[in-house]
Amino acid sequence: MTRILALETGNLKLETHCVQSDRRIVNIALIGFMGTGKTSVGRLVAEQLRFDYLDTDEMIQARTSRTIAQIFKSDGEETFRALEEKVVEEISARTKTVIATGGGLPASPKNLASLKTHALVVCLWAPPEKIWERVKNQSHRPLLHDSDPQKKIRELLAAREPFYKQADVLLNTELRSLREVAQQVIHQFRLEAVQ
Ligand code: S3P
Repeated sequence: MTRILALETGNLKLETHCVQSDRRIVNIALIGFMGTGKTSVGRLVAEQLRFDYLDTDEMIQARTSRTIAQIFKSDGEETFRALEEKVVEEISARTKTVIATGGGLPASPKNLASLKTHALVVCLWAPPEKIWERVKNQSHRPLLHDSDPQKKIRELLAAREPFYKQADVLLNTELRSLREVAQQVIHQFRLEAVQ
């Protein structure tokens, strides 16, 4: 059974689904669309909690010695998603780790369920316009190599929204600095973590 709290902190809408007691919350997993700040927030949170920091895209790149764009190009998205699943399994053995995940990773129910066994799952949210503003000058994301990237963002975001909303905590990052978002993540983690 989950309880939903909605707190309004300044301009930041924060929703918390209270975590079920049969979970062992020892890590933090950041999920959310490309450009929502998972990497930057994850690094800040890890530094402040003195936790390790892992990024699923970086793990995949290290294991395959290829960039995400190369994997998409030569083997296709399906292969990339299979690599993501493997990394998610590996991560489940970790403790005291902040995990920044690729934007599409939680769209697999298996991945989301696995993360929830050991981590507080926090979704960083931003509206499509804000995401576009943040990613438009970056070129490393194959899914945005599209004739109409803004439309693609809207479509992908709409398709993934039901998965993102299954996070324990939903944080709107639109009007908050990275530091403020990181503080909120830490606060929520301290409420739920195994001591
Ligand atoms: C993807 C997001 C990327 C990366 C890959 C696919 C997605 O990660 O995993 O390009 O499906 O949204 P970021 O969310 O860190 O950009």
